[in-house]
Amino acid sequence: MDLQLTVKIVHMISVTLLIAVVIARGFTLFIGVQGNQPNPVARKLFVAGQHLAMTLIILTGLTSLVIKNFAVQPWFYAKVILFLVLFSSLLKAYKKDDRILLVQRRAGFTIAVVALVAIIGLVLIKPNFG
Ligand code: HEM
Repeated sequence: MDLQLTVKIVHMISVTLLIAVVIARGFTLFIGVQGNQPNPVARKLFVAGQHLAMTLIILTGLTSLVIKNFAVQPWFYAKVILFLVLFSSLLKAYKKDDRILLVQRRAGFTIAVVALVAIIGLVLIKPNFG
C-alpha cells in the first residue's frame, strides 16, 4: 500500500475517533453536571481520546500536504480555518476554569459541532470557488 493512501486512511480513522469523542463528551455538558463543570465521568478517557485524535489529524494532514507538494484546492483553506474554530471552541467548552459558565461551555460545544459538520460537508462536496 503506498504511503499517500496509508496516511489518508490514518487521517480518516482519526477523524472518526474525533467525531465519536466530540459526541460522547458532549453528553457530559448536559447530564450530571457539577455546577459550571461538566460531568467528571471518564474525563481522562475523553481528554486522551481528544488529544490523540487531534494530534493524529494534524500530523497526517501535514504529511499529506507535504506528499502532495502543497497542491491544494481553495476549499482546503476554509477547512483549516474551520479546524481552528473547532479546536478553540472545544478548548473553551472543557477548560477547567470555574469562571466559564455552563451556558458558555454549551455554546462552545455547539460551535464545535457546527464547525465539524461544516468541515465534513466541505470534504464531501469539495466546492469549487470560482
Ligand atoms: C476535523 C478535521 C478534519 C476532517 C473531518 C478531515 C477530513 C478529511 C477527509 C475525509 C479527507 C479525504 C478527502 C478525499 O480525498 O476525498 C481529508 C484529506 C486531507 N486532509 Fe483532512 N480533515 C481534517 C483536518 C485536516 C487538517 C487540520 C489538515 C491539515 C493540517 C488536513 C489536511 C488534509 C489533506 C492535505 C488531505 C488530502 C489528502 C490527499 O488527497 O491525499 N485535514 N481530510
